[in-house]
Amino acid sequence: MRRPRVPGALPLTVLGLAGAAVAQAPGGDLGRGAALFEDRCAMCHLAGGGGQGPSLKGVYARKAGAAPGFHYSAALAGSGLTWTAVELDRFLAGPAKAVPGTAMAVAVSDPARRRDLIAYLRAASR
Ligand code: HEC
Repeated sequence: MRRPRVPGALPLTVLGLAGAAVAQAPGGDLGRGAALFEDRCAMCHLAGGGGQGPSLKGVYARKAGAAPGFHYSAALAGSGLTWTAVELDRFLAGPAKAVPGTAMAVAVSDPARRRDLIAYLRAASR
């Protein structure tokens, strides 16, 4: 098994992953996903809530719009989606296209990067 690359001090604790097994997730690189999350997502998606976006801890396989204490758009709350890898991929590729009216505006156009991010979100949801 290949050792995942987790750059330097980049904390997997962003989503409360401390102590979790760091492993190569199928189809995505957890270390790269963690770095991308830190770069492009963490400033809004604070692990403890209270950010501009909902906490994404536990988001994998959860219903859309279900983080406690976050006031979602009606569009996302009423989307009926469950965050499987397929739905996350579609959403991250183009949030406004996947869920018209959502307040999430950040798209990730590179499919490999989406896979890495999804690997990270999945690991952070265990
Ligand atoms: C500028 C702030 C901001 C950034 C940066 C951001 N998001 Fe979001 N995100 C939001 C907001 C706000 C929502 C809630 C949208 C709604 O209610 O329609 C959201 C919702 C989501 C959801 C759905 C959560 C749920 O509980 O249903 C996912 C998944 C998500 N974002 C992933 C990401 C990822 C991955 C990144 C980094 C590539 C990212 N976001 C970057 C603001 C942001």
